[in-house]
Amino acid sequence: MVQARVGVIGYGVVGAATAGLFDNPAIYDPPKGYEDPTVLADCDVIFMAVPVPTVLGKNDLTIVHEVLETITPILRPDQIIAMRSTVLPGTVRALQEQYPGVRFASNPEFLRAHRAFDDARHPYRVVIGADEPGIAERVADVYRAVLDPDVEFVLTDTRTAEMIKYAANTFLALKISFMHEVWDACQILGIDYAVVKRGLELDPRIGDGEANEELTVQPDRLGFDDECLPKDLAAFTSFLQNELGLPATLFDATATVNAGMLSRRLVAG
Ligand SMILES: NC(=O)c1ccc[n+]([C@@H]2O[C@H](COP(=O)([O-])OP(=O)(O)OC[C@H]3O[C@@H](n4cnc5c(N)ncnc54)[C@H](O)[C@@H]3O)[C@@H](O)[C@H]2O)c1
Repeated sequence: MVQARVGVIGYGVVGAATAGLFDNPAIYDPPKGYEDPTVLADCDVIFMAVPVPTVLGKNDLTIVHEVLETITPILRPDQIIAMRSTVLPGTVRALQEQYPGVRFASNPEFLRAHRAFDDARHPYRVVIGADEPGIAERVADVYRAVLDPDVEFVLTDTRTAEMIKYAANTFLALKISFMHEVWDACQILGIDYAVVKRGLELDPRIGDGEANEELTVQPDRLGFDDECLPKDLAAFTSFLQNELGLPATLFDATATVNAGMLSRRLVAG
């Protein structure tokens, strides 16, 4: 299959891993010295992987807008911007309305930062959402040209794709907090957590070994404080409670358990 011409905006963990899949991708990342936006002008699909921090429970889209205001004047209407940054359901649809001159897709990334290139090359699935016919398929074809033929694709609308990403990350956060409480109980009872973990991971409904890092509890590093799970849990909890009026009880509990685990690190350290 012939490779499409691909661009990447934001050459960080996700952007570099995405760029690594393709021959000669065009890169736009002014903070890293890739300052010329016109390199994107002849790209079929442009993957956007810039930071979207959580500020006061909301996605801070300042960088996304900064980039779009710079590049949309030089793009053609048939070019697709595939949003790899993690954004709340409805965000890409709103961007499409604000920037009608280009086409958008939602293409959340699920890689683990410590094995970014390997995960990008061998994803568990590729999720692509679009709200107009043909767009998701075009992005999928770009991946199909470079990924193993047995990789599963989920082609859907943009809000569903965005929801899958937040549901995935908050479920992983929940799983970590849950297993930390099981670990605590094992400590009190003098039960070997490693044997409990093995007994759990042999059940595929709970998860199999290699892909199941959330079952591992590091006693000298309790809780999660990575770049993604805390900010995504905070944004999604706030979205559920403040935008949808849901109690989001488990989401709050996940954050409470994690805060307790992180404070025990401080006490121990
Ligand atoms: N790191 C992960 O494991 C991971 C996994 C899945 C999804 N994500 C999501 O992907 C997005 C990017 O995360 P990351 O970890 O790759 O971030 P990162 O900080 O590693 O990379 C972001 C890149 O964007 C660049 N950038 C900043 N301002 C810019 C601008 N105005 N124009 C162009 N480029 C600019 C930075 O220089 C940097 O290279 C986030 O929304 C994150 O939640 C991250």
